[in-house]
Amino acid sequence: MLEQDIERVLFSEEELDKRVSEIAAEINRDYAGKEPMLISVLRGSFVFMADLTRKIEVPCTIDFMSVSSYGKGTTSTGQVQITKDLSDDIEGKDIIVVEDILDSGNTLSYLMELLRARKPASMKLCTLLDKPDRRVKEVHVDYSGFAIPDEFVVGYGLDYAEKYRNLPYIGILKPRVYGGEG
Ligand code: PRP
Ligand code: MN
Ligand code: MG
Repeated sequence: MLEQDIERVLFSEEELDKRVSEIAAEINRDYAGKEPMLISVLRGSFVFMADLTRKIEVPCTIDFMSVSSYGKGTTSTGQVQITKDLSDDIEGKDIIVVEDILDSGNTLSYLMELLRARKPASMKLCTLLDKPDRRVKEVHVDYSGFAIPDEFVVGYGLDYAEKYRNLPYIGILKPRVYGGEG
């Protein structure tokens, strides 16, 4: 079972639900009278996106984009690849980029720059997790769920080698799973 590979639970389902509600409340307040377009950065953000959007009360649209920089390892390769682009145009739109985790910043610094060039009316970043210790590229965050220590976390959309995304909570992976000590 997946559970056996988890060292400890970092955020339970209840804690995640509470924090996602708080973020949604901020967005509802900030976008009153507007119609934001939420952009989910696949694949990691799919669970957060689904939970967050169901708590958004202003009219909004959604779109998806897929980028990958980690491959099968635990550290970013620094090479960001777009594997699926947005379906819609973002020019003149109030966009909110929704991510599961901001780590080195490689993915988001690349992505935000790319999206900015398409001339949205406004652009904000919403990330559930932020691992500031590992930052290589500076990225401005508008909505952040939790700052976390430098540990390899999985679940609630986050993977290790494409697994564990289906865990309903966020847990710290046992180092032995990725060939570390322990
Ligand atoms: C992970 C995560 C973020 C990014 C953060 O995605 O979902 O998108 O890495 O890391 P960074 O700040 O160091 O760039 P990944 O490339 O593993 O693809 P995935 O979302 O499909 O898991
Ligand atoms: Mn990702
Ligand atoms: Mg990944």
